[in-house]
Amino acid sequence: MYSHRGDFLRHLAQTSPAPMGLEVVAAHGVRLKDVHGRWLYDLIGGISVCSLGHGHPVIQRALKKQLRKFSHVMVYGEMVQGPQVLFAKKLSEFLPKPLDCVYFVNSGTEATEAAMKLAKRATGRPKIAAFNEAYHGSSQGALSLMGSEYFRGAYRPLLPGITTLHYEQAESLQHIDKATAAVFFETVRAEAGTRPVSQEFLNALYARCRATGTLLVLDEIQTGLGRTGAMFSTSTLDFVPDMVLSAKALGGGMPIGALISSPQLMQHFSHAPILGHLTTFGGHPLSCAAGLACLKFIAKEGLGEQALAKEAMFRHFLQHSKIQGVFGKGLLLSLEFENEAFNFKVIEQCLKLGVVSDWFLFNAKSLRIAPPLIMTEKEIKKISGLVLEAIDKVAEEEIKGVK
Ligand SMILES: Cc1ncc(COP(=O)(O)O)c(C=O)c1O
Repeated sequence: MYSHRGDFLRHLAQTSPAPMGLEVVAAHGVRLKDVHGRWLYDLIGGISVCSLGHGHPVIQRALKKQLRKFSHVMVYGEMVQGPQVLFAKKLSEFLPKPLDCVYFVNSGTEATEAAMKLAKRATGRPKIAAFNEAYHGSSQGALSLMGSEYFRGAYRPLLPGITTLHYEQAESLQHIDKATAAVFFETVRAEAGTRPVSQEFLNALYARCRATGTLLVLDEIQTGLGRTGAMFSTSTLDFVPDMVLSAKALGGGMPIGALISSPQLMQHFSHAPILGHLTTFGGHPLSCAAGLACLKFIAKEGLGEQALAKEAMFRHFLQHSKIQGVFGKGLLLSLEFENEAFNFKVIEQCLKLGVVSDWFLFNAKSLRIAPPLIMTEKEIKKISGLVLEAIDKVAEEEIKGVK
């Protein structure tokens, strides 16, 4: 089959000197087909996106049905569009009160941007805090929150008034003060290598925010939609955050993001000034229709609860002396190795054996496991076997190299 590889390198903006470069020609279920006709298991689901795998009939039906009715008709918020309304209402069912008002955008980054603006507008405060080794998006506002000077330093000047906090360090919370509009946090530190945050620390964070009048923004862009058990990990907390961010899996594979808050908070976007946040394509009818179908399917099939059982399966099968730890929750997991070089070789070897994986932004010695939630036990066993085979091969090569 004709390869686009040359033109990919020539005409598409590159984001690293060494892209994975897998040339995909088809995708079905939990597998991707490459240009050489090989089917590979997808262990990352487009980075926590494809919860129902690829080409799921439920998503296809929803898209076709909506496409026959209408596609784009107007910018967000002006016309009553059924797919947006139905999706927003359904999402609210899975979140604690008063989180039942949705602003749809196009991506996680945009959800972060909208939340930063809403926090400043609602509190009148200038500062925003986020955590070390956290990723909330790539635009200049969201990038300002990124907990890594390596990634953000080259783009300064960024937003002023940003504070970087440290998880599990109670003293770090003292940096949240009465000038802090909001703190962005996660329940599982996705890009740090899927590290769950303790309930005690989150409760201390909540207490500090309540004492200072600071808003809490929970980034559920990777943890949400059943991936870590509950539909939203928000419902597993001892408190209700002021805002929740969603994206990635939200659209069942279609692009969409959402900022969710109480109506009381969200109303700030509608006056002084009006049109406080704008988007042309946010909440696109096709994305909403696909997202609603996906959400209903996850709930009906209990894929969230199943994600916890599947975590146990991965933990059971993935045992090897070279694996230093399995971290994370549900189907947001990581395998940690002794160093980055070893992990990169395992990822490369996995690809050769027919498994697609990846590393993390802030943790390059860990291998990513974020597969479609529909992955079966048989597939988990098969893939785990292939990952172990890859680790064996890399370990053997290491020994040969030493001799
Ligand atoms: C936790 C988290 N927040 C925000 C984002 C940004 O989302 P997007 O890539 O849709 O802009 C990501 C993307 O990886 C993420 O993992």
